Amino acid sequence: MISLAFIALIPAVLAAQAPQFVSPQPFGPTAVSPIYVGANNGSLAKSPVVPGKVFDRFTQVWIENTDFEVASTSTAFIELAKQGILLTSSYALTHPSEPNYAASVGGDFWGMGDDDFYSIPSNISTVFDLLEAKNISWASYQENMPTDGFQEYNYTQPNYLNSSAPPYTYWVRKHNPPVLYGSVSTVPERLTKIRNFNDFAVDVNASAIPQWNFITPNMVNDAHDTDIDFASDWLESWLVPLLSNPNFNDNKTLILLTFDENESYDINNRIYSILLGGAVPENLKGTNDSTYYTHYSILSSVEANWELGSLGRQDTNKTVSNVYDFIASTVGYKNLNVTGNDIPLTNLTGDIPGPLNAQFYVPFSAPNVNATGAGGGPVFVASNLNTSLTPQVQPAPVNLTASNQTVPAAVTGITPGAPAPPAATHTTSDAARLAGSVAAAFAAGGVALFML
Ligand SMILES: *[C@@H]1O[C@H](CO)[C@@H](O)[C@H](O)[C@H]1NC(C)=O
Ligand SMILES: *[C@@H]1O[C@H](CO)[C@@H](O)[C@H](O)[C@H]1NC(C)=O
Ligand SMILES: *[C@@H]1O[C@H](CO)[C@@H](O)[C@H](O)[C@H]1NC(C)=O
Ligand SMILES: *[C@@H]1O[C@H](CO)[C@@H](O)[C@H](O)[C@H]1NC(C)=O
Ligand SMILES: *[C@@H]1O[C@H](CO)[C@@H](O)[C@H](O)[C@H]1NC(C)=O
Ligand SMILES: *[C@@H]1O[C@H](CO)[C@@H](O)[C@H](O)[C@H]1NC(C)=O
Ligand SMILES: *[C@@H]1O[C@H](CO)[C@@H](O)[C@H](O)[C@H]1NC(C)=O
Ligand SMILES: *[C@@H]1O[C@H](CO)[C@@H](O)[C@H](O)[C@H]1NC(C)=O
Ligand SMILES: *[C@@H]1O[C@H](CO)[C@@H](O)[C@H](O)[C@H]1NC(C)=O
Ligand SMILES: *[C@@H]1O[C@H](CO)[C@@H](O)[C@H](O)[C@H]1NC(C)=O
Ligand SMILES: *[C@@H]1O[C@H](CO)[C@@H](O)[C@H](O)[C@H]1NC(C)=O
Ligand SMILES: *[C@@H]1O[C@H](CO)[C@@H](O)[C@H](O)[C@H]1NC(C)=O
Repeated sequence: MISLAFIALIPAVLAAQAPQFVSPQPFGPTAVSPIYVGANNGSLAKSPVVPGKVFDRFTQVWIENTDFEVASTSTAFIELAKQGILLTSSYALTHPSEPNYAASVGGDFWGMGDDDFYSIPSNISTVFDLLEAKNISWASYQENMPTDGFQEYNYTQPNYLNSSAPPYTYWVRKHNPPVLYGSVSTVPERLTKIRNFNDFAVDVNASAIPQWNFITPNMVNDAHDTDIDFASDWLESWLVPLLSNPNFNDNKTLILLTFDENESYDINNRIYSILLGGAVPENLKGTNDSTYYTHYSILSSVEANWELGSLGRQDTNKTVSNVYDFIASTVGYKNLNVTGNDIPLTNLTGDIPGPLNAQFYVPFSAPNVNATGAGGGPVFVASNLNTSLTPQVQPAPVNLTASNQTVPAAVTGITPGAPAPPAATHTTSDAARLAGSVAAAFAAGGVALFML
């Protein structure tokens, strides 16, 4: 036990920088937890397995806002890298969070440069269209989301780290890719695939985890409101035990552990990413892969594995969509060698024209229907898509802000109480963030736990 005298010497800010991890799952990741407001809703139906060329299941876990160099000094990440392939040239696409999540399933971030409430038109296709065309099951598992297919901007519940502190916002819409797309949010059957962690526990026990999964830990466990040490503790409590659970990880499972973006906007957007799971060949475990990858590689690798069609977006742009090397060599896909100064600078924010950029607005265009992605199949053409709206025929970008307008997709779809402006947490430094209201709840908790 540390003496009270010693604690008195710990400056408040130091205590604030050492929030202590508490698992919201007292009985582990495979048991329902009373701490989650969202009740279990029964397990998913088991679907027939559609075999892939390299893996039969792909599960991605996204952590937040950490520079490559910071993650690479974290014990949990170092230990996990020994069990998989460390991707040393893996990059996020822009800042802040939401555009990176949106791009991971839609093949573009549509010019988005903020974390606002968006609902992307239903004729814009996603990876879910490609997967469902081949009967490949999918789910998005969202920690602390209250009900399946929840569509509000965020969700606030009792604070489980400190029950006398004010309620806390553990779940946010911006970290849940499928709900950002109208092609999912207007289809009840698809909404049932956006599930909470109590559903995950039941699905895992029923051996009903789908073939494609997106996992979003809550705002403290994913390092967004905390730091890499907190996220490491969560990984030890959640991912590490699941790696030896055959219902989660078998010899045909590929797991990607990655970050949405780095923390420092003034350097390029390199993130720490590891490929894990039984599908990683034994001889590659503990090795590095220096091929250039981005979040679009997630799409192209999945397309290559199941010979899917493509979205005809950046998933078919060879520069930014290299297929994970051990998959590329198995399926015979030729990657581009992008190194040094050829690596695009993707630490830009809000200055890329697009339909979700109010200052450089252009309408949504159709995908390039003539493109071929790594899976070789056709470009998916959504219903109500006007294929003649190619990028070439689009008008020049206009500044909607200058005429007091917002982008149409920010106000259409199912809106919450108000399409609220984002909390600009990404633009503040670690210290400023931790000194903010979030830290208040942690500060005392940190001191209390030092005494144990
Ligand atoms: C998907 O499943 C449906 C219903 O079982 C079946 O009719 C269809 O042929 C399947 N499609 C593919 C590509 O296997
Ligand atoms: C369970 O599913 C039903 C039907 O989709 C939905 O109305 C309900 O909100 C869900 N409950 C939870 C806890 O997600
Ligand atoms: C993979 O797992 C299956 C099912 O458990 C088993 O039959 C098979 O032998 C395993 N293959 C390898 C290469 O370990
Ligand atoms: C992006 O990163 C590059 C390379 O480190 C740096 O020169 C540039 O200033 C950064 N851009 C921004 C907008 O911070
Ligand atoms: C492909 O990606 C590169 C790097 O971001 C970019 O410069 C280029 O314009 C993209 N090509 C297309 C057709 O979008
Ligand atoms: C990729 O390009 C770099 C720089 O030109 C070169 O050093 C490296 O050998 C190339 N790698 C491959 C796999 O071709
Ligand atoms: C696709 O190919 C057709 C036939 O060559 C052509 O008419 C059309 O303009 C092309 N579309 C795009 C988006 O390049
Ligand atoms: C998508 O659908 C909307 C509504 O029908 C239409 O106005 C828009 O032009 C379509 N966009 C594309 C790219 O097809
Ligand atoms: C767009 O208009 C707003 C409001 O007048 C202005 O602040 C902003 O700088 C403009 N953006 C660009 C890219 O010109
Ligand atoms: C935009 O709104 C501001 C504040 O409401 C107002 O002062 C300004 O005149 C408006 N500009 C235009 C172009 O409508
Ligand atoms: C949650 O959403 C409400 C209403 O949209 C908003 O006022 C609040 O700032 C949001 N809080 C967080 C932490 O995102
Ligand atoms: C819990 O939060 C309350 C209110 O913010 C604070 O006064 C108290 O010190 C905290 N307790 C612990 C153990 O962190």
